[in-house]
Amino acid sequence: MDFEIINGSVETLETECLVVALEAEGKLCPSAQAIDTAANGYLSDLINSGDISGKAGEQLLLFKVPGIKANRVLLVGLGKPEERKDRHYRKLIKGITATLKKSGIGSVLFALDGCASEQDDVYRETRQLVEWISADFYQYDETKSKKADPIKLEHIMIKLDEEDIELGEGALLDGVAIANGVDTAREVGNLPGNICTPVYLAERAQALAEEFDELKVSVLDEEQMAELGMNALLAVGKGSAQPSQLIVIEYRGGEDGEKPHVLVGKGITFDTGGISLKPGAGMDEMKFDMCGAASVLGTMEALAEMQLPINVVGVIAAAENMPGSQATKPGDIVTTMSGQTVEILNTDAEGRLVLCDALTYVGRFEPQSVVDIATLTGACIIALGHQATGVLSNNESLATALLEAGEYAADRGWPLPLWDEFQEQLDSNFADIANIGGRAAGTITAACFLSRFTKEYNWAHLDIAGVAWNSHGKEKGATGRCVPMLCQYLLDLAEQVEIDEHDHDHGE
Ligand code: BES
Ligand code: MN
Ligand code: ZN
Repeated sequence: MDFEIINGSVETLETECLVVALEAEGKLCPSAQAIDTAANGYLSDLINSGDISGKAGEQLLLFKVPGIKANRVLLVGLGKPEERKDRHYRKLIKGITATLKKSGIGSVLFALDGCASEQDDVYRETRQLVEWISADFYQYDETKSKKADPIKLEHIMIKLDEEDIELGEGALLDGVAIANGVDTAREVGNLPGNICTPVYLAERAQALAEEFDELKVSVLDEEQMAELGMNALLAVGKGSAQPSQLIVIEYRGGEDGEKPHVLVGKGITFDTGGISLKPGAGMDEMKFDMCGAASVLGTMEALAEMQLPINVVGVIAAAENMPGSQATKPGDIVTTMSGQTVEILNTDAEGRLVLCDALTYVGRFEPQSVVDIATLTGACIIALGHQATGVLSNNESLATALLEAGEYAADRGWPLPLWDEFQEQLDSNFADIANIGGRAAGTITAACFLSRFTKEYNWAHLDIAGVAWNSHGKEKGATGRCVPMLCQYLLDLAEQVEIDEHDHDHGE
């Protein structure tokens, strides 16, 4: 599937399907108006005869509209002006891609004239279009014997006004990079636990480094982690036959010596709960417990594709959480890499155990910021449902940067407090900290646990338990969240670097 920005008068553009829009009460948007004029009132007649009125969700696929070059016209309704929020725009695109999929059309031209979304932001609208069309055409068939039919839609054109072309082309490049990152996160996320093991994650990272010169990967095995004293991480993999891995992906796009921004992903390739075994129902979904790791992989890929002028390190803490004769038991106490001791009261609170050592490890990069991404707590689903990523941080401006990035990228987060009062819930009689804090405020106490290991730098924690995958029906599968939020966060950082350099060049 390839994307292209084009310009010209719609009636003369060649495509198998031209998508144009009308607003509520039959008001044609500019491109639709141009088609109507070229076709001698063909569209107006349809409105007058009541075949379409412009309600949100309406569609009419028209063949051989006279007076124009396109083979088909897909006329879509946008509804009332207040129905132009992100969620309406998303639904509109879903409706269009569903029609395109059914029809087997090979090329399409979008001429929505900026009418379909509320903001006057060509870059954002165009990028969203690219990301969402790509996402809608994602199909998983890696582990099916019968492969999915190849996608017939090959060529997607987006018509913009002359003066918007440059912005549009930037949006297209970023959009394709982010879409590829989302695709990777979904693909890796969807793989079953018997294929997607910690070693497999390491191999995926290495494959990424083969593809992009800007990426360098190194992997620590259990022996190397033991030498570093990463006993909390190692405690999680002890019941499993699969060796744990610490995967480090370095992207150097910024100045030499400029300190990196770090992303740390939870990579539990299957979470049985360990000796604190989870109930059986729906346990298959715990193959998705590496979606934080998958979002790091996807974001690093997009970053390399966008070639942003910053330094970023992606780290994946990978282990399989199984019960076994060697498994960690409730009450076991380990000494973490930081030197703090942890009483593992519940082996199902394993994400924080692999993350705490990874968070200590990344201190060596003297990072400008550290963001960890984890399917950490079921409690986050209770707090925020399946809409928002939970955002907790020891630094207000970092939290704001992530929240704003999520808002812009239509991949939203929402803040939760990290007050010291919550820390007491982690008190232990036998170690420095317990790994659980009771039923109340489960997402916050999990983040409190992590905060004990992140005092040296600016840090934020993203709990993606509610957003990383869909559980039901045909939609069941990884979503690729929060790759768009993270990519936007990095785009914003890169933009800031460019502004600073510009100011510097001008002696300010
Ligand atoms: N991976 C789970 C969290 C999870 C559960 C995410 C369900 C999405 C859906 C995590 O390792 C876990 O088991 N957390 C426990 C923590 C508890 C033992 C303090 C939880 O949320 O129940
Ligand atoms: Mn668990
Ligand atoms: Zn888990």
